[in-house]
Amino acid sequence: MRNFTNVNDIGPLDQALAKARYVKENPFADQALGKNKTLLMVFFNSSLRTRLSTQKAGLNLGMNVIVLDINQGAWKLETERGVIMDGDKSEHILEAIPVMGSYCDVIGVRSFARFENKQDDYNEVILNQFIQYSGRPVFSMEAATRHPLQSFADLITIEEHKKSARPKVVMTWAPHPRALPQAVPNSFAEWMNAADCEFVITHPKGYELDPGFVGGARVEYDQDKALEGADFVYAKNWAAYTDPNYGKVINTDRSWTVTTEKMALTNNAFFMHCLPVRRNMIVSDDVIESPQSLVIPEAANRVVSAQTVLKEILLSL
Ligand code: CP
Repeated sequence: MRNFTNVNDIGPLDQALAKARYVKENPFADQALGKNKTLLMVFFNSSLRTRLSTQKAGLNLGMNVIVLDINQGAWKLETERGVIMDGDKSEHILEAIPVMGSYCDVIGVRSFARFENKQDDYNEVILNQFIQYSGRPVFSMEAATRHPLQSFADLITIEEHKKSARPKVVMTWAPHPRALPQAVPNSFAEWMNAADCEFVITHPKGYELDPGFVGGARVEYDQDKALEGADFVYAKNWAAYTDPNYGKVINTDRSWTVTTEKMALTNNAFFMHCLPVRRNMIVSDDVIESPQSLVIPEAANRVVSAQTVLKEILLSL
């Protein structure tokens, strides 16, 4: 595997899960693989989990790790070709990317949707420029349309906790005051559609996701009905995808908050969220603190997903 940007890059999911299990049980077994190899992590946006878990994964593999926060200390980057650079942006991304590539062996990139131009977001303009111009393998640390390291960790967590061969997994929209990208729900849908589960998506009308990500999943507008018999409840907010509301918050209906009453409709489901989460908007204190909450083991599995992916990339060098 050279680049990792979506579910197809990891190969068959049963094999990917077996590799992840091995990495989890033997975190330091592959230190020779990363010796004298440098991982560069480039952040255009904030992070807690991705930053720490991916660094830890690189260190477990014996790699040297460098982290660059584009908006804190680096030159402000122009990303459009043809622009007369007479404003506040000092460097063009088309020089910056190959320079970054010359300092490392593998690059991770975090670059969220900007909600300025839907086509640019859904064409993954920044991530693809890194793939095209860095000369290095590139993996997504959450791009405009997908967050595959998160989805892989989510799948590992479901696999570890499922009580039936084909669990019912419900992804529910939940309210949030700000406009959040669709990357996590898109990606979760992509991975769940590829996994062996009954997958249901529930959200208020107007929050329909890109049909390319929804695939064959059942979409249910009645949250209570969707939650009936669920084994896993995956909560997430996202801004509208469909035009003319792309990137907008069209409602913050608090009746969609995941509460104890909502969880009572399920099959004693586990609660999942990628974090960070706004308590008592997305999920009540009671639910996130309950024994059924998997948010901490889910975050811990981010090391496992990142290390499994990095290992595959290192094996391809
Ligand atoms: N879930 C996740 O990606 O968290 P961070 O934004 O803190 O990295």
